[in-house]
Amino acid sequence: MRKINRETVQRILDAVDIVDVVSDFVTLRRRGANYIGLCPFHNERTPSFSVSKAKGICKCFSCGKGGSAINFLMELESMSYQEALRYLAKKYNIEVEEHEMTDAERIAETERESMLAVNKMAMDHFAYNLVDTQDGRNIGLAYFRERGISDEMIKRFHLGYALEDSTDLYNAATRKGYSLDYLLKTGLCSRSDSGRVYDRFRGRVIYPVLSVSGKVVAFGGRTLRKDKSMAKYVNSPESLIYSKRRELYGLYHSRQAIVKADKCILVEGYMDVISMHQAGVENVVASSGTSLTAEQVRLIHRFTNNITVIYDADAAGVKASLRSIDMLLLEGMNIKVLSLPPGEDPDSFAQTHSSSEVEEYIKQNEIDFIRFKVNTLLRDAGNDPLRRAQVINDIVKSISLVADPVARNVYITTCSHLLGVDDKVVSLQVNKLGQEHAMKLRREEQISGGMEQLPAEGGTASQQTDGSTQPVDGTGQATADAGPSQEIQQIAGTHALSAEGRKARFLLPFEKEVIRLVLKYGMVAFAQWVDENENVWPLTVYEYINGEMSNDGIKFETVLYARALAEVSNIFNTTWQPDLTRYREQIAAEREEGRRQGIEQIRTGATNMAMIESLERELEERLDREDAEKETEFAVNYVERILASSPDDDMRRLTADLVSDRYVLSKVHTKYSKVLTELDRLTEVVPRAIHELKAAIIDCEINLVKEQMKEACKTPETMRAQIPALMTRISELNAIKQQFAHILGERIIIPR
Ligand code: CTP
Ligand code: MN
Repeated sequence: MRKINRETVQRILDAVDIVDVVSDFVTLRRRGANYIGLCPFHNERTPSFSVSKAKGICKCFSCGKGGSAINFLMELESMSYQEALRYLAKKYNIEVEEHEMTDAERIAETERESMLAVNKMAMDHFAYNLVDTQDGRNIGLAYFRERGISDEMIKRFHLGYALEDSTDLYNAATRKGYSLDYLLKTGLCSRSDSGRVYDRFRGRVIYPVLSVSGKVVAFGGRTLRKDKSMAKYVNSPESLIYSKRRELYGLYHSRQAIVKADKCILVEGYMDVISMHQAGVENVVASSGTSLTAEQVRLIHRFTNNITVIYDADAAGVKASLRSIDMLLLEGMNIKVLSLPPGEDPDSFAQTHSSSEVEEYIKQNEIDFIRFKVNTLLRDAGNDPLRRAQVINDIVKSISLVADPVARNVYITTCSHLLGVDDKVVSLQVNKLGQEHAMKLRREEQISGGMEQLPAEGGTASQQTDGSTQPVDGTGQATADAGPSQEIQQIAGTHALSAEGRKARFLLPFEKEVIRLVLKYGMVAFAQWVDENENVWPLTVYEYINGEMSNDGIKFETVLYARALAEVSNIFNTTWQPDLTRYREQIAAEREEGRRQGIEQIRTGATNMAMIESLERELEERLDREDAEKETEFAVNYVERILASSPDDDMRRLTADLVSDRYVLSKVHTKYSKVLTELDRLTEVVPRAIHELKAAIIDCEINLVKEQMKEACKTPETMRAQIPALMTRISELNAIKQQFAHILGERIIIPR
């Protein structure tokens, strides 16, 4: 992928107006300092999606989604970071400069584009055949009509027809100047041993497969013959642009509806998706005959947590559904399954029912996946005790993968009941598997340098897991990419952690508060300090916190926080001063303009000299106040603006999580309300956060020494040798702790 160079990224981020970006997708109304609208990430009737122009951030108070303009686009339109940048560049007419690509990169990129272009041409050609050729109309179109597909759906899904003529597409493509190379690479054409070129799709109706961003990546062609020796479907081969396991048929057309309904309905075939759309149920995708892959689940997960799988009532359909279950649970999905009346598939059902009937049927008949699994497996096992035991193990494994602890407990209770087993037994087993799972995740997280460095138990856990958490499709990817859930870590319990692990966990909330203040107010000059020569200097929140920490040799235990602090250091030492200077020049110019207008008003309105003088004094005071407010606002937003658009996923998420919480956005600081905001109380808030972190570190130390004492008490020798020194250490630590309050009180923080 070509990478946009740094300067261009900066130019793009500078140009972005979040209100403007969001407005392309959501109707916004002004409310106080912010804008508000209906959340595009979930279905709602009262607006809870808030956009802060000044902060460049949006956030839904109800579902929590949002972030910078980049995050917004990435989530809503499922773009990559680079795609979001390109989108914004286009929107703001910024010319994109890119890194020099390597030759290999350049070839791959042009190859991809060429293949997509050939496919687009083919799609149009097949669509043309369907309505503008004799055979297309008589055979293809007649077939769709017979199956009750409307013209609107034919257009929406770009349905087409491939003529019987084995060189129809080849000839058309060559006439238009497309190279044979890409016809072969996309699999639209093949070459026989004798060198003759012929079309892959012949005498079939065509279903183009669109990627989530609407590019034609493949085709499915269905035969219209009853002849059993003919393959029912011919599909495009895997290629540079098409990986079957990464695509979902219909996602491009269904994603908005999936987001709105906060639910994705999974069916099997092309026609199922199309008929459901035609019936008005648009949150539908198809896995196209294969069992669901981890990649596909993750695609769906971008839009919703909720999946309802509609399966055929036949045995094969059931088995296929079961195979996907563990993977879906592992991905944190809520899964329901639905069986249709005997003999029906989604296509036939949608063709004979209205959209409200379909929706009502789903609502009445879907059941959660685990319950479904228990029922089917138990039915299969019959009375065989060995097989029943296997069923129990199987179910327990599934439950242990459920991320939400509340849901997990509900499952434990209901399944114990269904299985006829004591729920304590089930619960114990679930927790045991959960711990193993957590341990494995933590190890993986460390290997990949994850966010919170919580070391696993010193080598006691077996490196070999029993494979119970492996995804069903055996790629191993679902586990590696899924990321650890907080809850699963909690099951593992603190006792599974080493001393350092416990320390990191214990300090986490204190560190979090400190880094939050750095990210949110880092560049705000919140206090002053006076040097030996009585010069007064402004002191920023970052300088204060950084100074306090390095004076006492404190480093964040949580790796991500340490990284964030380093980023802020970098910002402070490089771009901050020049940018601030430039901004001051800008507000100075604005002030001149403001003064000019103010004076003009005074001249026309005032009647005597004394009045003019007093009005002019007021004007200057107002301009001073406005300057100060502008500068503070600039400082408040500075760090956040940069980090909220960082190419580093963790950094962006951290910034969005810590900075744009509900409290910040909803608390409006206007000249009419005298509410004291956090910003007004920084002289109190910032030192307290640092103080509490230090106190927590001392507490940790004290606990550590206490443990060493316990250890030392085990034998008389070690007692004699170690206890006195340890006792001294404890009283030292206690003394330091007590001094804190004093030190803090004495430290001179002069409010600005
Ligand atoms: N499929 C495939 N190749 C096959 C059979 C099926 O790729 N040989 C995929 C197609 O994506 C198809 C889906 O599996 O849409 C479901 O298969 P099936 O139920 O057999 O077909 P339908 O889509 O229901 O087709 P129709 O209703 O037109 O018979
Ligand atoms: Mn069908």
